[in-house]
Amino acid sequence: MRITKTSLLLSTALATSLALAACGGASNGTEGDGESEGGGAAGGEGTEMRLALNQTEDHPSYIALDNFGQTFAEGAPGWGIDVYPNEQLGAQAEALQLVSDGSVEMAIVSGAQLENLNEDFTVYNLPKVFEDVDHQMQVINEPDELTQDLFDSLEEGSKITVLGGFTQGSRSVYTSFGPIESAEDFAGKKMRVQESPLNISIAEALGASATPMAYGELYTGLQSKVVDSAENNEVSYFTQKHYEVAPYWSYTNHVVGLDYLIINSDVLSSMDDDVRAEFDAGWDAAWKEHTELWNEATQEAIDGAKEGGATFTEVDDSAFEEALTAIADEYISNDNQQALYDQARGN
Ligand code: GCU
Repeated sequence: MRITKTSLLLSTALATSLALAACGGASNGTEGDGESEGGGAAGGEGTEMRLALNQTEDHPSYIALDNFGQTFAEGAPGWGIDVYPNEQLGAQAEALQLVSDGSVEMAIVSGAQLENLNEDFTVYNLPKVFEDVDHQMQVINEPDELTQDLFDSLEEGSKITVLGGFTQGSRSVYTSFGPIESAEDFAGKKMRVQESPLNISIAEALGASATPMAYGELYTGLQSKVVDSAENNEVSYFTQKHYEVAPYWSYTNHVVGLDYLIINSDVLSSMDDDVRAEFDAGWDAAWKEHTELWNEATQEAIDGAKEGGATFTEVDDSAFEEALTAIADEYISNDNQQALYDQARGN
């Protein structure tokens, strides 16, 4: 059942991307473009890249990436980035596959998705690994050798290069049935989680039973009571309108979440030095803009959700502390994970 559905989604996403390509959505002039050596020259060949995103057009990720696309196109003629929001190119699990096989060039995927390709990525999705957003952005976007090796680790097996990350801010829970104060409040309730073993454990540590599900299916999942709750940041809660069907937000702040920008490795290596420099500068500006937009977007989301009837409840930090801290012990299972964890924690 599950396999059938995934393959169906994948073929839909592929059909969409092929249709887009047929409409001139993609041009691939990456091979043999020796002429653009020393490049970025007017009329140089390049690739009009498609970027798969699962957020709406008013989400900070779309805004920062769209600006990235525009500055990159100006600085590197022939190249461009078209951002496709709202899972138009597929949910994240499909987008990951499409970037790997080269049918889509770029995507934003949550850390949970990369855990499934290399379990060492799990470290950066653990509760308590990052103190706050600034700490997270410094570790991820000013990577030391260990982190860079992790980012390059998917190239050989999957042709995916990780370029850096956007923060997801602090994630908390929300429910359709009432505020949460302790794990007992989740007894017998189902929580939608991102598709990874760690996320199942986090839901269990919070007291719920976990139901992995794609982001775009969650509104209907909550509405039809397939799940009773979910966890995310306020920006997603508001832009996805989940407050309409799960109006009780409780501040568990169980993890500072992380999204990654990924690109097909062959497309990245087809950039000459000048194009690559424009690309790197554009990404650097994009994650900084995203971080700047984040606090304001969070406040707007809280205000908007409250206007829509949501309530926001503080939770005693100690309520879930022990169960969440224990997860790090469970999920750090090799030396590289331990080294990444220690490096992030400054140990
Ligand atoms: C956040 C995150 C997405 C992720 C989503 C989810 O919105 O930015 O990348 O897909 O959470 O919970 O699935």
